[in-house]
Amino acid sequence: MRKSVVFKNNHLYYLDQTKLPRFRIYRECRNIKEGYHAIKELKVRGAPLIGVFAAYCMCISARKFKGRKSDFMAYLKDTALYLSGSRPTAVNLSWAIERIMRVASKNSNESVDALKSIILKEAGRIHREDIRLCANMAKEGLKLIHTNDVILTHCNTGFLAASGEGTALAVIYAAAKKYRSIKVYVDETRPLLQGARLSSWELRESGIDTTLITDNTAAYLMQKKIIDKILVGADRIAKNGDTANKIGTYSLAVLAKFHKIPFYVVAPLTSFDINIGKGEYIPIEQRSPDEIRKVLGKVWIAPEKVKVYNPAFDVTPHKLITAIVTDKGIIRPPFKRNIKRILTAVR
Ligand code: MRU
Repeated sequence: MRKSVVFKNNHLYYLDQTKLPRFRIYRECRNIKEGYHAIKELKVRGAPLIGVFAAYCMCISARKFKGRKSDFMAYLKDTALYLSGSRPTAVNLSWAIERIMRVASKNSNESVDALKSIILKEAGRIHREDIRLCANMAKEGLKLIHTNDVILTHCNTGFLAASGEGTALAVIYAAAKKYRSIKVYVDETRPLLQGARLSSWELRESGIDTTLITDNTAAYLMQKKIIDKILVGADRIAKNGDTANKIGTYSLAVLAKFHKIPFYVVAPLTSFDINIGKGEYIPIEQRSPDEIRKVLGKVWIAPEKVKVYNPAFDVTPHKLITAIVTDKGIIRPPFKRNIKRILTAVR
């Protein structure tokens, strides 16, 4: 089943991505605390998927409310605040939560039961929209791919990271259907190995010619002229096109510039943050030192007390990006003007 989040018979289930690729375990999210931890611990991950999952978490939490009608909105606000704190970088999280809050506020004169079902409907809409966005990005991105292309990708941006086929990997899936000959290199993506554990598994399951490399091998491949283009996702894109994505994305973009390789970001418009002018203001999540000191929380590979710096994301300046593929078309430089144009057109 290519579904990482399932809402069925009023129950919310998610595929625990920390167990992949060895085990395919679906867990139920029964309350907001479990939802918070599923996101924080990367059981549910990938910017678009976090948004969809958070919207459902809001509904699960709302369902538990048993107090007076006059307290409901305050309860929902507290829930929103708590859940938004689970991960700071992917804007899709706060975007989805705010959307649930907006629809609740607009209907706040309704009964609590009616409000519970109104927000559930909104979560369902967010979910269905996300599936459509992925399909549109795939269609748009396909315009950039040619037969025999060799593509390098980073982290995981496929069906595990979204409700549909994903962002950058969705383009690759569409390309593989059209041109059987495409080849993909996947960075393992230290430290949590989303490339090795998730992308190489997804791509192989889909029958795509996939080669896993260590993150440090990317430069060598580019120097040998093996890579035709690079496709990555995004967690948040500032007004000027600066893009936050998994740590290591910036290094790839610098390398791509040096080797004259096109560098494409694939992201839905829900990943754009017009409140942020440039990349330096994007909040970057700092994660536990033990993610670096140990491999996947198990084997110690560094001294227990060594100082560690572990930002989960970095920011690629827009100057290094060839184009941004969105669900509403491909944005090319000048990004500030063209992002504004596309966002204004959809509003
Ligand atoms: O820490 P993660 O695994 O949630 O990071 C995910 C990424 O950086 C993805 O590239 C990004 O969310 C785009 S996903 C479609």
